[in-house]
Amino acid sequence: MEKRKRIGILTSGGDAPGMNSAIAVAAKTANHLGLDVIAFINGYSGLLYKEYIDITGKDLTDIMNRGGTFIGSARCLEFMKKENVKKAVQNAKELDVCGLVVVGGDGSFRGAKDLSAEGLPTVGIPATIDNDITCTEYCIGYDTALNTVIECLDKINDTMRSHNRCAFVEVMGNKAGYLAIEVAIACGADGVLVAEKPVNVEKDIVEVIAKKYENKKNFMIVVAEGVEKASGLSTYEIMSRAASILKEKYNIDLDAKVTVLGHVQRGGCPTYKDRVASGRMGAKAVELLAEGIGNRVVVIKNSKIIDMDILEALALQKNIEDELFELSQIISE
Ligand code: F6P
Repeated sequence: MEKRKRIGILTSGGDAPGMNSAIAVAAKTANHLGLDVIAFINGYSGLLYKEYIDITGKDLTDIMNRGGTFIGSARCLEFMKKENVKKAVQNAKELDVCGLVVVGGDGSFRGAKDLSAEGLPTVGIPATIDNDITCTEYCIGYDTALNTVIECLDKINDTMRSHNRCAFVEVMGNKAGYLAIEVAIACGADGVLVAEKPVNVEKDIVEVIAKKYENKKNFMIVVAEGVEKASGLSTYEIMSRAASILKEKYNIDLDAKVTVLGHVQRGGCPTYKDRVASGRMGAKAVELLAEGIGNRVVVIKNSKIIDMDILEALALQKNIEDELFELSQIISE
């Protein structure tokens, strides 16, 4: 009897809600297509050190509603070395793995590109709450993170209203401001600072608060975490600078609080969107490998699941959408 083909799957980089659904549906699709499938533990290091579990024929649907990734994830710096990429390809050969699905961010795609170049057909699935992978309209985890952050901002707004306070809330996104802008719109923030735009504390925060202060005493300022590196100002420093200018120029005593949301943004039960988008992309990735097609990234374009060359995908650039940023500014006025 002809030996069954075997594929591998791993999750890499910052975890994202929906990764489990991608794994579960990829396993189901592999089963449907008569493929064996193993899952490498803790990202690329699982491939490098042959740490894996056999999920062939396993019904993993009971993990689809759980955040995180049940096979672990990591940023594998050793994978930057060419000799380790070669070792990983050799390990795949020894394990009879003829293709690999990599679920992760753009850093993970560079590893996928290197593996493909060394002869292991690899297909990437975009997964990061930052939504900053340029080749796709949507990354797994982004919708869940948006809803988590909106829930947190609404809760913070409740208490700011009770105490006439101003919240400065720092959100994740790495260098990108997508998360910050969209939650600022959704929550009617009085200001949003992103790394992609110059920070002007006086114009963006002080003047907005001073103009509104007669009718409103509670405020919400969303700060993307990338602002600190881009502007040299931490969220705390932005808050204190705004408070001191408001006192000096307008004699307003701002009672301000900083909340750094941190890793709560990475967890939670994946939303419908993240479960179905990741399942569709997991299935597509396995179908490509079943046809012996690698060196691809599965992306969402015009709500369609398509695939594109990894090198092309990594070469694309995107920035925050001006329309969304402008809207966040109008809402803050
Ligand atoms: O890339 C996803 C992300 O959550 C970023 O938004 C954040 O800056 C980073 O990961 C945090 O990384 P770690 O989990 O290693 O602290």
